[in-house]
Amino acid sequence: MCGIVGFIGNKNAKDVVLNGLTRLEYRGYDSAGLSLFNSRYQTFDVYKDEGRVQKLVDSTKNAAFSNIGIGHTRWATHGRVNKENSHPHYSQTRRFIIVHNGVIENYQQLKDQYLRNTILTSETDTEVIAQLIETFSQTLSVEIAITTTLKLLHGSYALLVLDSNDPEKIYAAKYKSPLIVGQGVDGITVASDLMALIGYSTDYHALDDKTFLVARKEGIRLFDLNNESLDLHFKPIELDDQDTTKGEYAHYMMKEIHEQPSVLRRIVTNYYEKEKSLIKSEILESIKSSDRLYILAAGTSMHAGLIGKQLIEKMTSIPVEVHIASEFAYQKPLLSKNPMFILVTQSGETADLRACLVLINQHHYKSLTITNVPTSTLAREATYFLELYAGPEIAVASTKAYVAQVAVLSLIAHELSNQSIDIRKELSIAATSIENFLSSEEILPLVREYLTRRNCFFIGRGLDYHVSLEAALKLKEISYIQTEGFAAGELKHGTIALIEEGTPVIALISDPKINNNTRSNLKEVQARGAKTFRIVMESCKQDGDEVILENVHPLLTPLVMVVPTQLLAYYAALERSYDIDKPRNLAKSVTVE
Ligand code: G6P
Repeated sequence: MCGIVGFIGNKNAKDVVLNGLTRLEYRGYDSAGLSLFNSRYQTFDVYKDEGRVQKLVDSTKNAAFSNIGIGHTRWATHGRVNKENSHPHYSQTRRFIIVHNGVIENYQQLKDQYLRNTILTSETDTEVIAQLIETFSQTLSVEIAITTTLKLLHGSYALLVLDSNDPEKIYAAKYKSPLIVGQGVDGITVASDLMALIGYSTDYHALDDKTFLVARKEGIRLFDLNNESLDLHFKPIELDDQDTTKGEYAHYMMKEIHEQPSVLRRIVTNYYEKEKSLIKSEILESIKSSDRLYILAAGTSMHAGLIGKQLIEKMTSIPVEVHIASEFAYQKPLLSKNPMFILVTQSGETADLRACLVLINQHHYKSLTITNVPTSTLAREATYFLELYAGPEIAVASTKAYVAQVAVLSLIAHELSNQSIDIRKELSIAATSIENFLSSEEILPLVREYLTRRNCFFIGRGLDYHVSLEAALKLKEISYIQTEGFAAGELKHGTIALIEEGTPVIALISDPKINNNTRSNLKEVQARGAKTFRIVMESCKQDGDEVILENVHPLLTPLVMVVPTQLLAYYAALERSYDIDKPRNLAKSVTVE
């Protein structure tokens, strides 16, 4: 949620920052901005406007060389989407320039208390930070003015600050929102995420909360908020360009859908040495010794968590509850005596989940984060973490991360169970089933025939019900068709009132035991005018079924059943000429509550 990048070194900062912002655009794309040093006037210029990074690339075409710069891509929280509210923001005299990711909850109070005589030019919470730094710098050194300001802030921040009086430094600080500093032969890059560092840095240090750094061409100094020096711990960057390009595909989403078989295979390779599981035994022991598991997550990851619950409960005797993170954080349910928490998160940065983890840690409960980003806050702050190995997921609508989450949860369930399933083989059968479907899929004609209305339903029972929730989220996220996922048997208890002539209803059927029950529910909606079609596993196939998937292990059907629904969403958005990888109003890494 908002991406920030800063660079100081021997290269043109404009190029590094703009490339970095392009890679971080998945974090927000309401507006974009950049600040570069203008050596002629000895000031920092600011270029910004609503719209995408590409617009900023065009508007800064003629900007002169600057070896220092900071930039921002915004997902609006405070203040409408317009030029004034775009970052960077100046302080009143234009001495300080700032970009920020996060939310300052007490900004109004700070404004009233310290900035009564300051004219603010935007509606943002961020501008208050710039103004406070300027106010304090009148009597304090810049570094102390910054840390004094930071100590007053409630909420979350990752921020970069420039000082026109000393244009050879970038100041950076973080609390709750992610921030990483990278070093390479050409200079120092500070950014929200590793992807912005690719090509410019060889090593990175992930900043801890309440730390503050000063980057100069010659090096980096790190401090705590009392201005005491701290050590930096650099690790090599293992991502490369290949991981972040679209390759032969028109959109990242399509590329990521097609990567799903290889993600499943990579998970097997990374979690097994021959037959031996590489999941640390202490993780499994902690789970076994708990009397109840609580899976916490948001959005698509929550839907993966619902499948995880089914798998763990079906394969073991451990009860599992699944909670929406934003609810759990403030409405903590009655917990069991010895709970253990599993946080499922693609980004590892979701603020709603972070709020839960703070609570979990306060009570010294054990926690496991399952994430795609091992450097993320939630990976670092949980007792344990397991990696998804999905590779960078760039499309905002999550596909391969969901499949990876379900797969890793299935490995956990398997390692805890006494059932003799050859999970490696079963996951590889699932990978092949997806691959075979993708190589011959004919989803576009179905989209053209059925998804022509403003609403749609997915129905299913058991595991298919949980997949239908994810199918509905995907379709609404990117095609803006109002879609609901429903337990097939529940539709008749009220919601069937919404079915009218032509309403599309898509049934997911993977379990032979309840095949006919779901088909009966389809008949009920057909009788009321619905246009229906079926996505089924071969084991449930009947004449006239539209999408048939090769059989996989009955507990792993969600891995495969979800794939046609991802394509339905993709093609529905394509047909409407929507921006598939960057749907409106969304962001991929939601670092505000
Ligand atoms: C956002 C994304 C969703 C994602 C959710 C949870 O809303 O748009 O795709 O499922 O956040 O994110 P996480 O990174 O915790 O999985």
